Amino acid sequence: MNTSLPYELRERLRAARPFLLTALLALLFAGFVAAVIAHAPTRPLVWMVAYLVLVAGVAQGVLGLGQALLPGQPPASRWRAGEWLLFNGGNVGVIAGTLLVAPALVAAGTALFVAALAAFLLGVRGAGGGWLLQLFRAVLAITGLGACVGLVLTLSGITR
Ligand code: HEM
Repeated sequence: MNTSLPYELRERLRAARPFLLTALLALLFAGFVAAVIAHAPTRPLVWMVAYLVLVAGVAQGVLGLGQALLPGQPPASRWRAGEWLLFNGGNVGVIAGTLLVAPALVAAGTALFVAALAAFLLGVRGAGGGWLLQLFRAVLAITGLGACVGLVLTLSGITR
């Protein structure tokens, strides 16, 4: 990383890095899958591409960067590692559970994912206010809502 950046900004960007790198990998994987399945798309695989872009990619990038920049100080590295594990462990569970038609796995993944959202909410405690914080909270609310809707769809089986 550019060492001429101010020390504090470098530390903050370091806190966001694992989330941003994982988001980038998810976006690249989504593009690759979309290209491969383009000639014969199936509903679950197109859903997975959308999930990888919106949740594992965009939401993860916004949450990781927002948490690193918004509060007076980013949360401790162990807290961030826990969040990363909950968020991405949850994503793996939700995706694998949906593709394998295993509702219990989707439910377990959703539980991890929602725990990660709670950790992100706590991670920006004391961030004051402003529209960027509102945007951060809106991403938490929308993904939280999406997770609940997805779980209901899965358990009801109406999309199969
Ligand atoms: C970001 C906002 C989100 C939106 C707008 C959204 C929207 C949708 C929609 C429209 C479907 C139905 C797809 C179909 O017709 O097959 C769906 C399915 C699903 N969503 Fe989401 N979703 C969001 C986020 C999430 C999140 C965060 C999770 C889990 C952590 C999730 C889990 C699921 C699952 C598991 C299904 C598949 C249900 C099934 O077909 O068995 N969604 N979502």
